Amino acid sequence: MTKKVYIETYGCQMNVADSEVIASILKANGFEMVDNINDAGLILINTCSIRENAEQRIWRRLKAISHLKRKNRNIVIGLTGCMAERLKEKVLEEERIVDIVAGPDSYRDLPLLVSEAETGHKAVNVLLSHEETYADISPVRLDRNGVTSFVSIMRGCNNMCAYCVVPYVRGAERSRDPETILHEAEELFSSGYREVTLLGQNVDSYRHTKNGLSTGFPELLEKVAGINPLMRVRFSTSHPKDISDDLIKTISKHHNICKHIHLPAQSGSNRILKLMNREYTREWYMDRVSRIREYISDCSISTDMITGFCTETEEDHQASLSLMEWAGFDFAYMFMYSERPGTRASRKYSDNIPVEIKARRLNEIISLQNKLSAISKKNDVGKTFEVLIEGYSKRSSGYLSGRTSQNKVVVFPRREEKKGEYVNVQIEKCTSATLTGKVV
Ligand code: 5AD
Ligand code: SF4
Repeated sequence: MTKKVYIETYGCQMNVADSEVIASILKANGFEMVDNINDAGLILINTCSIRENAEQRIWRRLKAISHLKRKNRNIVIGLTGCMAERLKEKVLEEERIVDIVAGPDSYRDLPLLVSEAETGHKAVNVLLSHEETYADISPVRLDRNGVTSFVSIMRGCNNMCAYCVVPYVRGAERSRDPETILHEAEELFSSGYREVTLLGQNVDSYRHTKNGLSTGFPELLEKVAGINPLMRVRFSTSHPKDISDDLIKTISKHHNICKHIHLPAQSGSNRILKLMNREYTREWYMDRVSRIREYISDCSISTDMITGFCTETEEDHQASLSLMEWAGFDFAYMFMYSERPGTRASRKYSDNIPVEIKARRLNEIISLQNKLSAISKKNDVGKTFEVLIEGYSKRSSGYLSGRTSQNKVVVFPRREEKKGEYVNVQIEKCTSATLTGKVV
């Protein structure tokens, strides 16, 4: 029965890509994926540790599925990913229903861990690797629209942002062999996919060297874009300290490299950026944004912001607001600082901003961003954009939905167009989350 596996994924896009690697490894070992948790003999929860509430959500989920195990003792439950790596054996003490704990670099070992669990033993592998990139594994696409897909190009992270748990749970940075990346993207294109998002914690520092031949990120991006003009390429995430003019120029030169850059600022205050160990200043960040706008006039820029980091004053908070206003971000992910055990911030600084203040500041940046996002969408009204159709609109099958190169969702009345096709849509209206228009 454990041969029927159900995978549930939490956290970032990288985790989504990892679940597809897990599915591929298991399939090659005779497992079969199921869509309903009640049909599964093996349940894998691919977890996230980025903030405390991400972990709490997973504990609650484990409680909620514990009845399955009470009903059938033979069901095997495994925790994979970042939280498995962070807590290691401690997971087993906290939650008795868990049988397997597998960190992000141990997925090749999963079939073995499952057999061990089947004999009634708890199975743990949380070793991190300096080499593992799962380069040779063709991910099994789970639950996709058949048009857009992720391709992981590197693993781990060498930056030491003071707040961040990622380097501890995903290990050191390593880049995947470009040939295998190209091969995966080509296969996606031949099976009908029309967009790939290249994923890494810090794509700008992608570098792979083989037989004296070294490939950096702009080159890799160009090669993937060269597969076919009908294949769009996106990437995430860029680091403001590393994003180069070379990369910006590469994006500007290719129609099918999407005009959208996710460039997490985190804070607009130089004092806080220093404490966060982000290795850039507000002025540097602004220079990068100006450079992007100079080379790519129609580029959208999104960001991540954290409120209430250790010692953040009202003045620091105002600096974040003013940076956001200046940059006019098209979109942002915004969070309250959440102290993560073991990180530099947790060891060196006190998490001294009361939660009410963190929350109030978060609300302020959210309302500002709502205003900025609305401005960004209003500016699109009347313009015509090339849209890659991803499927029916969620609301009605009389409408199709897709995204612009700038990563904005566009909904329009369906005629004979199909998903995977490009259409030019003239924008007529905008709502809070989407643009609507008609095919021209
Ligand atoms: N607390 C709050 N937000 C965090 N992020 C990363 N670590 C933390 C933390 N400890 C945010 C950052 C990052 C995004 C993925 O999550 O903004 O860019
Ligand atoms: Fe992704 Fe970070 Fe969460 Fe891990 S901890 S799943 S890398 S967001």
